[in-house]
Amino acid sequence: MEILKIKGNAHLGGSIRVHGAKNSVLPILAASLIINGTSVIHNCPNLSDVKITLDILNHLGAKTKREQDTIIVDSTNIVKSNIPEMLMREMRSSIIFLGSICSRTGSAVMFLPGGCEIGLRPIDIHLNALSELGYLVDFDGHNIICNKRNVKATKIALPFPSVGATENIILASCLIDGTTYIVNAAREPEIEDLVLFLNKAGAKISGAGSTVIKIEGVKSLSSVEHTIIPDRILASTFMSASVITKSKLKLDDVVIKHLSPVIPVFKEMGCEFKTDNNSLVIDPPSVCNEVKMIKTMPYPGFPTDCQAPVMACLTTSNGTSVINETIFESRYKHISQLNRFGADITVHDKIAIIKGVESLHSTNACCTDLRGGASVVICALAAQGESTISEIQHIDRGYESIEKQFASIGAEIKRIKDEKEE
Ligand code: UD1
Repeated sequence: MEILKIKGNAHLGGSIRVHGAKNSVLPILAASLIINGTSVIHNCPNLSDVKITLDILNHLGAKTKREQDTIIVDSTNIVKSNIPEMLMREMRSSIIFLGSICSRTGSAVMFLPGGCEIGLRPIDIHLNALSELGYLVDFDGHNIICNKRNVKATKIALPFPSVGATENIILASCLIDGTTYIVNAAREPEIEDLVLFLNKAGAKISGAGSTVIKIEGVKSLSSVEHTIIPDRILASTFMSASVITKSKLKLDDVVIKHLSPVIPVFKEMGCEFKTDNNSLVIDPPSVCNEVKMIKTMPYPGFPTDCQAPVMACLTTSNGTSVINETIFESRYKHISQLNRFGADITVHDKIAIIKGVESLHSTNACCTDLRGGASVVICALAAQGESTISEIQHIDRGYESIEKQFASIGAEIKRIKDEKEE
């Protein structure tokens, strides 16, 4: 296993490019399965979740190759419609293949994705939607089994705007004759990116980014070239690092509109922003203000994925901040790790209370999940002394070589083998 060694009291500076969005590249790679031909996808970050997604595509019969940050998927010959336990266990979000396998082959068998480190993450909304589209959905104790029965376009009203379920319905219905509507659809920018990709390939989908999405079925989808949008969660992670280290940073390759749910929170902390077409400069105050209340919500609300990184930078604010996590029930596991740095955070059900402390001290901490892991790195950057961070495989799911990225803006951070393991 590898660990990170991070020298604290870091002074960051300069500019950094924000890589492509994990939550966009994963569904778009799943969508490439439906393309009768080749998908050329640019700006794909090199993440462990992307590698697993390519393993799944290869298992199903697609041919994939990576050339720097471009991934090419040839889905001309798809030979399987199942995803075995080994691949499903690796990544919970592989459920996103359910819709695309059904679309491509008419049936799908996949091992039930387990719970994960941030909550139960049920898939009832996905399965009910497929039933409404006319799939026979079954469970044999291990696998979800979907078979085409009376597949027809219909109107599906979601009980909650689930991101993954919205994507699965789009993927499952884009080749169904007639018009399918999704009501109370998720509005995340990554949904718009998926729809843009599919429309370039010949799909007829409108309304992405709003609460009602209209999918007019087409006969087939053809070869396509697409560039993944920048990762708004990565941008917010850099912004949090800027605040806790009191360092001015320039972020290149951002979509300012996608950051509109988080920028007001950073302004409340006292940060100043200069924005351009696709870049921003964040200039943090010498001591960050507390934030009265952050409530995580579906887009365009404050993203749950930014909760942990933003909590990290509030640990040294000059007051008491409150966070209400409404999306996932177990998304506070990182708090025990942040408190190891001397942070003062308490949890009461969905509410976290962060009392700002003057400074953090170095410690040995571990990553409890992807974004929780990023929050630990952020605290280590500001702590007095050198910290050791373990379980960093969680971070590698969503951040490409996080140590290289932070080193490029002045952090002293190294990835090394954990000697205790040898
Ligand atoms: C996606 C993102 C994840 C982000 C989340 C919320 C990807 C690959 N992952 O995850 O980073 O944190 O959106 O913005 O894009 N739910 C149900 N039943 C279902 C589906 C969801 O009850 O069938 C619940 C979940 O348990 C959770 C909430 O709905 O409490 C949000 O989940 P959802 O929007 O589906 O998130 P994901 O698509 O899993």
